[in-house]
Amino acid sequence: MERHQVVIAGGSGGIGLELVRLLAPRAAGIQVWSRTRGGLEPDGVVRHVECDFTADQPLPEPPESVQAAVYCPGSITLRSFRSLSVADFRQDLEVNLLGAVRFLQTLQPRLVGHDGRPASVVLFSTVAVAQGMPMHASIAAAKGAVEGLVRSLAAEWAPKVRVNAIAPALTDTPLAARLLSSPEKREAMAARYPLKRIGTAADAAAVARFLLSDESGWMTGQVLGLDGGLSTLKV
Ligand SMILES: NC(=O)c1ccc[n+]([C@@H]2O[C@H](COP(=O)([O-])OP(=O)(O)OC[C@H]3O[C@@H](n4cnc5c(N)ncnc54)[C@H](OP(=O)(O)O)[C@@H]3O)[C@@H](O)[C@H]2O)c1
Repeated sequence: MERHQVVIAGGSGGIGLELVRLLAPRAAGIQVWSRTRGGLEPDGVVRHVECDFTADQPLPEPPESVQAAVYCPGSITLRSFRSLSVADFRQDLEVNLLGAVRFLQTLQPRLVGHDGRPASVVLFSTVAVAQGMPMHASIAAAKGAVEGLVRSLAAEWAPKVRVNAIAPALTDTPLAARLLSSPEKREAMAARYPLKRIGTAADAAAVARFLLSDESGWMTGQVLGLDGGLSTLKV
């Protein structure tokens, strides 16, 4: 990631913030686009740019050339289908899918590789797309659309840009705070996973860094499960 210009949508909290911390020592520059600075400490490498991906207004000006881009904003809407309105579905689509579309349309002209290698884009899905779960209709539908976007853009942009996604299960971030608000809830959640723990922001940031780096240089159009074994194992 040396000399890379990186843009991280939603790098002020949760997984995105952890990724900024991981990349900062080696990147040439990191722009973080989000509504607030959150836990971010801007310095010579890291710059915060205020931006709301759900607002109907132009996004910020990206750097001249961008080698790596990540879109983190998302939601966890856990409600029965009966209690979900069309507006709820629309809201999940806004932040998870259409925000990513706005982000990538803004960045597309600036996404260029380096030393003959493609640029790399990472988006976030959820385990609830690959494995049907009750109460997940809205978020799974929105993230299913994200997975379709990932594969389509990976095809359309090859060989100049790689596009991959991470599909996490429950990860300990501000987004999931409501589900992990007591030691009992944490224990019960951890017990559901074959690896007997929930995910951390560091788990997800490490996979994102791998997908951005040349170590994953022959991967594109993939959705990587990051779920303690939940989507594939029955133990
Ligand atoms: N945590 C989980 O259990 C889990 C599970 C499955 C999938 N995922 C997915 O993983 C991704 C990262 O999740 P996370 O847990 O790290 O989320 P998080 O803790 O909520 O962090 C989200 C980041 O995005 C920014 N953001 C949110 N809405 C935005 C908007 N409208 N415009 C601009 N910035 C916005 C937030 O900053 P500001 O508030 O300052 O704008 C923050 O920096 C999401 O796509 C999520 O759906 C997470």
